[in-house]
Amino acid sequence: MGYGRNIKNILYGGDYNPEQWPEDVWHEDMQIFKKAHINIVTLNVFSWAALQPDEDTYDFTKLDKIMEMVKENGLKVCMATSTGAHPAWMARKHPDILRTEPDGRKRKFGGRHNSCPNSPSYRYYAPKLAKKLANRYKDYDNIVAWHVSNEFGGACYCDNCEKAFREWIKEKYGTIEEVNRCYNTSFWGHTFYDWEDIVLPDFLSEHFRDGDGRERTMFQGISLDYMRFMSDSMLECFKLEYNMIKEEMPDIPVTTNLMGFYKNLDYQKWAKYMDFISCDSYPAPQDSPAEVALSHDLMRGIGGQKSFVLMEQTPSVTNWLPYNRLKRPGEMRLLSFQAAAHGADAIQFFQMRKSIGACEKFHGAVIDHAGRTDTRVFKEVESLGEELGRLGDVFLEGITPSETAILFDWDNWWAVEYSAGPSIRMKYLDAIRDYYTPLHSLDIPVDIIGTDDSLGKYKVVFAPLLYMVKTGYDEKIRQFVADGGIFVTTYFSGIVDEHDLVQKGGYPGSIRDILGIWVEEQDALPEGEQNEFIYHGKEYPADMLCDIMHTEGAECASKYQKDFYQGTPVITVNSYGKGKAWYVGTRSDGDFYKAFVKDIMNEAGIQGIMVTPEGVEASVRKTAKGYVIFLLNHTDGEKEVVLEKGCKDLLEGCQYAGGQCIIIPPKGVKVLWGAWS
Ligand code: GLA
Ligand code: ZN
Repeated sequence: MGYGRNIKNILYGGDYNPEQWPEDVWHEDMQIFKKAHINIVTLNVFSWAALQPDEDTYDFTKLDKIMEMVKENGLKVCMATSTGAHPAWMARKHPDILRTEPDGRKRKFGGRHNSCPNSPSYRYYAPKLAKKLANRYKDYDNIVAWHVSNEFGGACYCDNCEKAFREWIKEKYGTIEEVNRCYNTSFWGHTFYDWEDIVLPDFLSEHFRDGDGRERTMFQGISLDYMRFMSDSMLECFKLEYNMIKEEMPDIPVTTNLMGFYKNLDYQKWAKYMDFISCDSYPAPQDSPAEVALSHDLMRGIGGQKSFVLMEQTPSVTNWLPYNRLKRPGEMRLLSFQAAAHGADAIQFFQMRKSIGACEKFHGAVIDHAGRTDTRVFKEVESLGEELGRLGDVFLEGITPSETAILFDWDNWWAVEYSAGPSIRMKYLDAIRDYYTPLHSLDIPVDIIGTDDSLGKYKVVFAPLLYMVKTGYDEKIRQFVADGGIFVTTYFSGIVDEHDLVQKGGYPGSIRDILGIWVEEQDALPEGEQNEFIYHGKEYPADMLCDIMHTEGAECASKYQKDFYQGTPVITVNSYGKGKAWYVGTRSDGDFYKAFVKDIMNEAGIQGIMVTPEGVEASVRKTAKGYVIFLLNHTDGEKEVVLEKGCKDLLEGCQYAGGQCIIIPPKGVKVLWGAWS
């Protein structure tokens, strides 16, 4: 599911801010968009100040004109609600809209994405504007989606949030006794007697900064709940606007632009309330292709493995990194096709025309300050537009046929990284990458799934660093393995339940029987210190955390090489029902994960889409008519790929024979039909 109105081509365009420009420029823009094959603009992202100059006045004159103009020019519209930044008068008259920092300082007017999600004023004015907009523009048949606010995120720690947090807790736990139990408040005598005793966790209460400036908490349970609560609070703001839009335009899908692995918001929960997933992608120049692919796979995954919209990417450069390196020739095209290869059905930019003032004046745009169409960037945008046009609907709504999944869970992310001990080096995303990267280099399609998703369709499920096993999730794993699945988990797994309370009786808690082990201790090694283990005749490092364990039915696949736990198991495998459960009790290096993941895939009988040289990614989308293969050369050199089957090159229009060797130019892309089945 993507844009509405039965779209039969790849939508191509981006954030357009004509309100920053005089009208004569708009007309110029329309001609330029045509030249670049632009067919959609996202409008009205930051116009609240113009649309509502005071409490009672709404002024849509300019937006009316813009809407008429883009319609006349045949452009589709992704219509934003403008509520990502509140007007100055609102902050002056209704200071409850201003956020409070975790150290208690109240913010003044400024910046953006700055409204308190529990502010009564914000919750009154934002949906009201959404309703007015939807009512005014509902007859425009070129509106293909609504875009609520912009990049929801951050957090607030004000008194209104504290009050709302108490209500949220009351609703969740019912009684104060249950709150005390779940937060384990008998520790340090934190027992609450009354709801009023509950204060939000910030630097005035449970939080502190450690010697290295990291935010830590003394009470994980309440801090974890505050993350959940903040995510829910913002989701509530989204829903309020969503409902207003639906009252006016029930058939048009509503979205908001997400940001890949964004820690503050539980996108798996958000996705349940969004009509389709759209996201922004701004990889840093040093990010590997696997890193970018992983983020797209997450975005596809939260929406139920359906296609998504790439709402924003820069055509050339960002402005907010310390060093804003240009995307090299061909790189924007390559990244666009990579997004498509992992599930994107629309390719859009931030921004269409480069603004002249403030912090984004040096951010890349389709139309540069020079206003010309003979720039390198414009020409690349134009040529990609032409290519996408030629592809028509060939991969639209195509799914990724994966037999392998990686579990990713926001609650677990928060909980792992709030944990006081055993190691500050433990990062949830690193553990995910450890397993995703080799799968990516083997060109094996992977679904990123959440704890609500079914495991039934997969042959292999990796659940790295599954510190938190929510009540009932053990049963899901048990069933999966019993039915013949291969389950892989790692060090520091099966430790706590959803309240961050340790599961008694020995680690890994409720999944101990599935894994057939008992983990007695964890040795956290400082940077530079390592143990070793031998796996299939080769020595690999045991780094960061070493689980010290006993087998209880599992087979030992590898042992520690030194220290007082020399000779004890580090990797184990347990046969359970028709399947197997692996436990990798330490963190190792890329070479190990490559070898290990390859073995697991062989065991499961899962092969890569194609045999590709290093640096060439192969990805597949399955449509009702067949399979589209994307070959993406991420390197700066030519690469050769031998095609197993004859197929059609959809970009070049030519046919290849089975066994033929094709050359992919540096940063080049091939879109093939019939190469796989
Ligand atoms: C985000 C925002 C845009 C813009 C870009 C710049 O994605 O949504 O408004 O600020 O970043 O990279
Ligand atoms: Zn607040």
